[in-house]
Amino acid sequence: KTGRVSVPQLRARKGLEPIVCLTAYTTPMAQRLDEHCDLLLVGDSLGMVVYGMESTLAVTVDMMVNHGKAVMRGSQNACVVVDLPFGSYQGSKEQAFQTASHILAETGCAAVKLEGGAEMAETIEFLNARGVPVMAHIGLMPQQVNTMGGFKSQGRGDDAAQKMITDAKAVAKAGAFCVVVEGTVEGVARQITETIDIPTIGIGASVACDGQVLVTEDILGLFSDFTPKFVKRYANLGDSVSEAVGKYAEEVRTRKFPSDEHCFGIAKKGNLRAV
Ligand code: KIV
Ligand code: NA
Repeated sequence: KTGRVSVPQLRARKGLEPIVCLTAYTTPMAQRLDEHCDLLLVGDSLGMVVYGMESTLAVTVDMMVNHGKAVMRGSQNACVVVDLPFGSYQGSKEQAFQTASHILAETGCAAVKLEGGAEMAETIEFLNARGVPVMAHIGLMPQQVNTMGGFKSQGRGDDAAQKMITDAKAVAKAGAFCVVVEGTVEGVARQITETIDIPTIGIGASVACDGQVLVTEDILGLFSDFTPKFVKRYANLGDSVSEAVGKYAEEVRTRKFPSDEHCFGIAKKGNLRAV
């Protein structure tokens, strides 16, 4: 083993082989994903996917720390990045550093991700200069659900496209080592990817990006409360769970489970204690 993929290694992948990313929240899933992914993102999407929340807004730093630790325990190859949750970094660059340094120290992850373009550039520069690598996130920013009025694709129309390109340039100039580009049209994603010198990681942003990320539970069919257009299903594990649990329930009710092979055996008379 050569250790984990590092932040500089990921940054250096610009224009080379596509970067493979998925979200991870737990140890057993991280163990599986680590065999295939360059980067595991402990996304604040866990609020919706794991905790059943309607948005990511109520996710706490403690939740991110606990899931970050779980993902670190389950992986040894991938670079692990943990999301800064809503309200834990937007107040000031000092607040952002306090939250981010706490997350790095507690989990051992390599970097944090935060949402925002030009308005977060100063914060990105502040963190990066102080030992906290930052993955930026522009375009559709789920923590902005209330200002957007829902989860809507971004960068449509000349002004909106220009704003996204300006945001991408700003986060790259500020020292972000890569940037998630979410929910936009191919033309914008392509222009951003061709313009900036750090990798773009697309989610609903076309094949023009330098890498791709999706929510693991979405591609496995384990989360169907809300499925964006850009999700591709690679398995239907939710159906497998229903089928397996249905069989178990049936066997418990009919006393078919547990049978002898799943028991410690039948007690000899002498081993029985009077109750
Ligand atoms: O929270 C998350 O999972 C994310 C990715 C989908 C980019 O931010
Ligand atoms: Na997120």
